[in-house]
Amino acid sequence: MDLVVVSNRVARAKANEPMTGGLAAALLPVVEKSGAIWIGSSGKVSDTSEKDSPLKIEQLGAGALAMLDLPAAHYGGYYEGFANSALWPALHSRPDLIRASQDDYTSYREVNAFMARALTRFKKPAAAFWIQDYHFLALGAELRKLGFKNPLGFFLHTPWPARAVIAGVPHHRELIEAMLSYDLIGFQTEDDVENFVRCLKMDFGLQLHDGVVMSRFGTTRIGAFPIGIDVEGFAAQARRAASHPDVSRLRMSLGGERLAIGVDRVDYSKGLVNRIAAFDRLFEIEPSFKREVSLLQIATPSRGTIEAYDDLQSELARQVTDVNGRHGEVDWIPIRYLNKGFSQSVLGGFYRAAQVGVVTPLQDGMNLVAKEYVAAQNPADPGVLVLSKFAGAANELDAALQVNPHDIEGMARTIATALSMPVQERRMRWESMMRKLRAGTIHQWFAGFVDTLIEAHAAQDLTAISGVPRIKPLRTADGAFLH
Ligand code: F6P
Repeated sequence: MDLVVVSNRVARAKANEPMTGGLAAALLPVVEKSGAIWIGSSGKVSDTSEKDSPLKIEQLGAGALAMLDLPAAHYGGYYEGFANSALWPALHSRPDLIRASQDDYTSYREVNAFMARALTRFKKPAAAFWIQDYHFLALGAELRKLGFKNPLGFFLHTPWPARAVIAGVPHHRELIEAMLSYDLIGFQTEDDVENFVRCLKMDFGLQLHDGVVMSRFGTTRIGAFPIGIDVEGFAAQARRAASHPDVSRLRMSLGGERLAIGVDRVDYSKGLVNRIAAFDRLFEIEPSFKREVSLLQIATPSRGTIEAYDDLQSELARQVTDVNGRHGEVDWIPIRYLNKGFSQSVLGGFYRAAQVGVVTPLQDGMNLVAKEYVAAQNPADPGVLVLSKFAGAANELDAALQVNPHDIEGMARTIATALSMPVQERRMRWESMMRKLRAGTIHQWFAGFVDTLIEAHAAQDLTAISGVPRIKPLRTADGAFLH
């Protein structure tokens, strides 16, 4: 069977290129290994139709990457507009930031329809299509309109919020209904599944039975598929990274100083302002940490044309200047703040050099930085992960020091605890987290979703004949039932 993976952003095979975002970095190793075809935006726009738009195809290990230019007239309304100014804030429970115009929604639907037409080039009877993320909620429905009878799966990398929040998105009902064209819808956590199922119940009177909902479009299986990382691959990369010049320079610059690290896109969901405030508070309540500890915050610029992101970028610059100005010394800067991206291979080395990883989003689908930080550690002397309880990763990484990112004082005290933790406890926590990571790698996630998609699609055909959904209850990698 051929597998076609579709996402807005794709990743190139070059290990030394900076990478924006978890999705692209996560999919790269599985596409390389599985032989799937990965289709996404080239990052350029054009006025040509989907038939004339040239596909740039590159080899990606055993797989291939195909990139196409998205329509110039609709790209802004689709990406900066509906996807990132209406859906993204709602999905991250920030209804106050929702900005949506009718034109943006039109553009979003147009780009979904454009991508569906472009995918006809890959239509084969035996191909399965796996659509990724909030950019393409309606792509499955567009494919069905074009007569695709193939298995169609969808995975949402962000959270799915409470019903009252998603209701703030114009046309949310239309979009949720469109999602029911997929055979399988996967979320990061059981909480997301519950929120989505509640929308189906309250807005459409639909009920979930054994993980399956039956609608006028057929049956859709719904479940939680927490995404993982390539644990051993990342650990090996982090070990190798010790010799990278950036990593050596970082280590040399520290002298005897200890390091905490945060790596995020500049995004209001990441809790960056609260994190810097927590370090500010840490140096107030524990002045002994001054000149002894600093935070390396890598804050990759993101979506800068959107007002909320531009405002955040300015706020962070002011805040970091203020904290450094008040606590800094001639030979010590409390917050090393970098507005640029680094390649995955260099980041692994940075994580290994840091005694504390601070991953404190206000809301996050999974947050793969948390998992990568853990995988990168030296088993003999591992660092401590300080993790927001609002990241999807908190479900698995219960041996991290979990924090409420709204509680600045609590975060400051927890960071102090992390910095003082004895090596035995650090090892115990790290080993526990590694067991969880190994039980749910990106390869298991990929295979588990694809197998379930094929099964859900096959059951769909039986349902069409008998009218009764026939799908076995799902099992996760550790054997537990989903629903
Ligand atoms: O969280 C979902 C996600 O796809 C991430 O993987 C990525 O960081 C982000 O959303 C998309 O970012 P961008 O707009 O830069 O592609």
